Amino acid sequence: MSNIQNDIERVLISEKEIEKAVKKIGKQISKDYEGKNLMLVAVLKGSVIFMGDLMRAISVPLNIDFMSVSSYGSGTKTSGVVKIIKDLDHDLSGKDILIVEDILDSGMTLSYLKGILSQRNVASIKIATLLDKPERRVADVHADYFCFTVPDEFVVGYGLDYNQQYRHLPYIGVLKSEIYEK
Ligand code: IMP
Ligand code: MG
Repeated sequence: MSNIQNDIERVLISEKEIEKAVKKIGKQISKDYEGKNLMLVAVLKGSVIFMGDLMRAISVPLNIDFMSVSSYGSGTKTSGVVKIIKDLDHDLSGKDILIVEDILDSGMTLSYLKGILSQRNVASIKIATLLDKPERRVADVHADYFCFTVPDEFVVGYGLDYNQQYRHLPYIGVLKSEIYEK
């Protein structure tokens, strides 16, 4: 019988640790956005689980919206040129935008996205990411809120995928290298 757990080298961040960290930044965001016009913008699909948990950890009024992007590039590396596959449904005028991402890696995607959205008459724009992988950063972009810093290893679970798989794992795990080498 195949079991996706067998493809995981080791658990990097447990379900409990994630829950605790998401609640903590939710509290901080609730403080920082008191009296503001908060709109959470999630980048599909990797951030859906984080988005679902994070929004329930925030106590101030908020709206949500989703967008889907694909980056042109060769193989596993992003080129930084992002194509919008699904744009937002809402007008961003006057809103305090918090982009919700799964992982900040090279930063190419987020710096491009932040650039595009900041041209839409927003009141402010910040980034919340579950994971930060600073070793691979190329673009000059930082996370205003993050839950965990991770080493330069390929991780899956809690929304993050390899080849569209493993998103439903409840924890963050390091994928066995034989999976992407085969
Ligand atoms: P970048 O910051 O433009 O390089 O791209 C970030 C995107 O690459 C994330 O939104 C993920 O979809 C993907 N990504 C980067 N590192 C990982 C990883 O370790 N596991 C799964 N996806 C990753
Ligand atoms: Mg992503």
